[in-house]
Amino acid sequence: MSINESDQTITDWPDSGSEVPTLPVGRLVYASVCLVQEAVLDEMRRIRDHALAHNGPEGIRVALLYMSGWFVEWMEGPEGAIQALLQRVAQDPRHQGIKVIHRSVGRPRLFRPWIGSIVQTPERPDAFGLRVFEQLDRFESGQVVDPASVWLALCSPAVAAMPTPLGQYPRIMLLSARGARAFDLITWLARAQRQPLVRRRFAGAADDAPDVESDYLDLPAHGRQGLRLIANARKGLAMGMTHAFLPDYTAVVVLLDQDATANQRIVDRVLAACRQVHHLPTIVGLGTQAELTTDLMEQVERQGLAWCTARTRRGKPDLEDYWAALLPALNALE
Ligand SMILES: Cc1cc2nc3c(=O)[nH]c(=O)nc-3n(C[C@H](O)[C@H](O)[C@H](O)COP(=O)(O)O)c2cc1C
Repeated sequence: MSINESDQTITDWPDSGSEVPTLPVGRLVYASVCLVQEAVLDEMRRIRDHALAHNGPEGIRVALLYMSGWFVEWMEGPEGAIQALLQRVAQDPRHQGIKVIHRSVGRPRLFRPWIGSIVQTPERPDAFGLRVFEQLDRFESGQVVDPASVWLALCSPAVAAMPTPLGQYPRIMLLSARGARAFDLITWLARAQRQPLVRRRFAGAADDAPDVESDYLDLPAHGRQGLRLIANARKGLAMGMTHAFLPDYTAVVVLLDQDATANQRIVDRVLAACRQVHHLPTIVGLGTQAELTTDLMEQVERQGLAWCTARTRRGKPDLEDYWAALLPALNALE
């Protein structure tokens, strides 16, 4: 497995302790063609420095994505300030052809002045562009969805066979307490179910942000709406994007380990992230009889989250055993 799942580069929540805003805000998403030819990461960092200086005082929070030769920026804050920022950004020679693909007022999801990510994918700019125009058509025909759904449709499109391709399917996060078994499990499952596995690497544009992998697998035949499994790196839990999307997860599956301290650590981190965004996903403990201890369950339930046990039949499970244990738990979430 090439994924670096060491715990050495964990970043803390930079704004931990900050109040999660709940009042409705203006929300806007645009896409533009990037004109930066080289060193996009350096350019993102320069943009971040401007954004950190300007956005905070204006009450604006943004997420900026670079993917397949395009920028996508999601802005939240006072509507007038967002419009002024859009006008300023539109003059910037580092991109062109700005298309506003979402505008609404609603619940805020971005809790930091700036989140940056670069997604490395083999998708070509013209293919990405087609998806931008699909979103533009939807928006211009009056179909206004949540900005998070627009972002997901661009950054993590569903496989065509998904019954609800616009993102209305349950999303399940998989995290391993140790090693990279969550990634191994969905890689194995993709092969077993003959479904494409989408591999993405996120480079955080903050200096201290780690480069993290997040792979996903869509299971169109699962239940009525299909299901998406997303394997995240442990250090991804500290990323602003994970934070913004945490409220969309129905459940977080923790692949437990023989090392009880590692199990404790991952459950602590999941619970801390959920507290930050006031979200109550079901926590599924996936492991052997010995790994599924009652103190993990009690800790989860004490925070008001539901705990669900997915116990493997064998003491030394292989990936097939893990899936056999997890599937009934996922069915029960329906
Ligand atoms: C794709 C993209 C997104 C940007 N996002 C922001 C932002 O959120 N906030 C910000 O202040 N500047 C942002 N900028 C930078 C502005 O366009 C502009 O360069 C910067 O604010 C400096 O403006 P000034 O020279 O008028 O001070 C962005 C630039 C690009 C290319």
